[in-house]
Amino acid sequence: MSMESALSDSSAAAVQEEDSSQLVPIKAILSRSDKGVGLCGQNVRIGGWVRKGRVAGKGAFAFLEVNDGSCPSNLQVIVLATLYKLRDVVATGTSIHAEGRLKLPAEGSAQSIELEVENLIDVGTVCNAAKYPLPKAKLPLEFLRDFVHLRPRTSIISSIARIRNALAHATHTFFQTHGFLYVQTPIITTIDCEGAGEMFQVTTLLSDAERLEKELKETPPPSEADLKVAELAVKEKGEAVSLLKSAKAGKDEVIAAVAELTKAKESFSKLDERYKLGERFRLGGGIPKKDGKVDYAQDFFSRQAFLTVSGQLQVESYACALGRVYTFGPTFRAENSHTSRHLAEFWMVEPEIAFADIQDDMKYAEAYVRFLCQWLLDHCYDDMEVMSDQTAIQRLEMVANSKFHRVTYTEAIAILEEAAKVKKFENKVEWGIDLASEHETYLTEEKFKAPVIVYNYPKEIKAFYMKVNEDNKTVAAMDVLVPKVGELIGGSQREENYEMLKHRMLEMGLPLEQYQWYLDLRAYGTVKHSGFGMGFERMILFATGLDNIRDVIPFPRYPGRADL
Ligand code: 4AD
Ligand code: MG
Repeated sequence: MSMESALSDSSAAAVQEEDSSQLVPIKAILSRSDKGVGLCGQNVRIGGWVRKGRVAGKGAFAFLEVNDGSCPSNLQVIVLATLYKLRDVVATGTSIHAEGRLKLPAEGSAQSIELEVENLIDVGTVCNAAKYPLPKAKLPLEFLRDFVHLRPRTSIISSIARIRNALAHATHTFFQTHGFLYVQTPIITTIDCEGAGEMFQVTTLLSDAERLEKELKETPPPSEADLKVAELAVKEKGEAVSLLKSAKAGKDEVIAAVAELTKAKESFSKLDERYKLGERFRLGGGIPKKDGKVDYAQDFFSRQAFLTVSGQLQVESYACALGRVYTFGPTFRAENSHTSRHLAEFWMVEPEIAFADIQDDMKYAEAYVRFLCQWLLDHCYDDMEVMSDQTAIQRLEMVANSKFHRVTYTEAIAILEEAAKVKKFENKVEWGIDLASEHETYLTEEKFKAPVIVYNYPKEIKAFYMKVNEDNKTVAAMDVLVPKVGELIGGSQREENYEMLKHRMLEMGLPLEQYQWYLDLRAYGTVKHSGFGMGFERMILFATGLDNIRDVIPFPRYPGRADL
């Protein structure tokens, strides 16, 4: 039986056929129903990193546990002392590219199959094993955060990477199969979608000012006196030309004098420009000012610009032309939160649906989250088993198989008020408050013990674009709350009435001229539409049961930290 046919129960086989290096993913060997036993006697080439290694047989060979990132399991690899200096291959972190034969291990071994190396193609040694930051022992996730470049080699972080990848794949699968179009919205924007003033500014004014400072130090600007002298020179040369002209001097003489005047003017203009730069630096530290304020007209985009907090407003313009769309990209929030659920840079999935109301919005949000849970059960069971939260798999099963509870905000407050009679909340419960995380925890973990969608929130605590309900007190907003994480999704029906939207914008003090394009969507063929945003890392946190959001994104950014 050829290796290809032996691997036919794995999707990796297809890739392997096209892979010129003919590397066999370890998953294709160990994730088979027979755990690779049926491949005994086959020749394979593998490439991975040593998780654990030891010299055995009195120095005759070494056992290596090699992981290549294709699955959580390691393949046992045997290297004979005749092939390589064993001390140099057993160090954790060593990379191995090897060919050999799969064989059954000795009886009593915990392995189902092992690889005996016949040809060691490449070894990437660890230069100083004592200094390798990730030795064998299980290390706390907090510790691993100091090594974001090496932590993907650990069992937990590599499983999270595969879960994250699977959720991204599932996201595109869900929306594509439901007829949604993927739209890439801008990362640099000039509007604040959520109006919460939590935006990172994008500007070149500061680096320009620093460059200017350095340059002015190297070549100081002219003084006012230097400028006066140059100005005087222009005046004198000008007078000289006038004198020559009125004295009807020869053509050559006039041309020469005019040339002198031009030179003096150029020299003055250069000095004047540098003088002004010097003054700009002296008065504003190099930042251009106009009427006492920073002059953004001189910034890179000729206006103030920021990193986006959400692609929603822009994606709405595509929904109002193409029907069903979604954006999935990085978003940024400069909130100074040090919680385990906030990042300064996180990914958001934002569908936007034309001709849909808040009820449709909730249906899509629920179907999407349940689809993601089922996807993980179907595609990442082995990685889910690596998670230390033993209830994580049960939670996925529960969410995939049960309907979400739905309560209005007013009902949620009534439930919390009832609970407050016997339970002490730190934050006061009354109609009008923004639910605190202790309230969300109560609803999802004590009252419903399941995801719950809270909808129709007071308009005062929600964004300007949400549709005002007939009661004129609430908006058609909805949040999906889940156990352990709290808010997973925030969404709403959008205000499609031009006058109403304009009124809300004025009420909230938004600069209308910047949002005219958004109003245009309501002026030209307005349509009822709805959408939501799901924090991608919050979903991973919920799925894995991990405690901190900083461990579910490859390179976490939070106040005080932006490694690499
Ligand atoms: O509720 P939010 O602020 O909603 C919006 O941005 C809407 N424009 C979305 C839309 O309707 N298209 O954020 C949406 C979700 C939250 O429910 C939460 O899961 C996540 O984004 N989120 C964060 N995740 C990690 N770190 C942060 N700092 C987050 N802030 C919000
Ligand atoms: Mg929200």
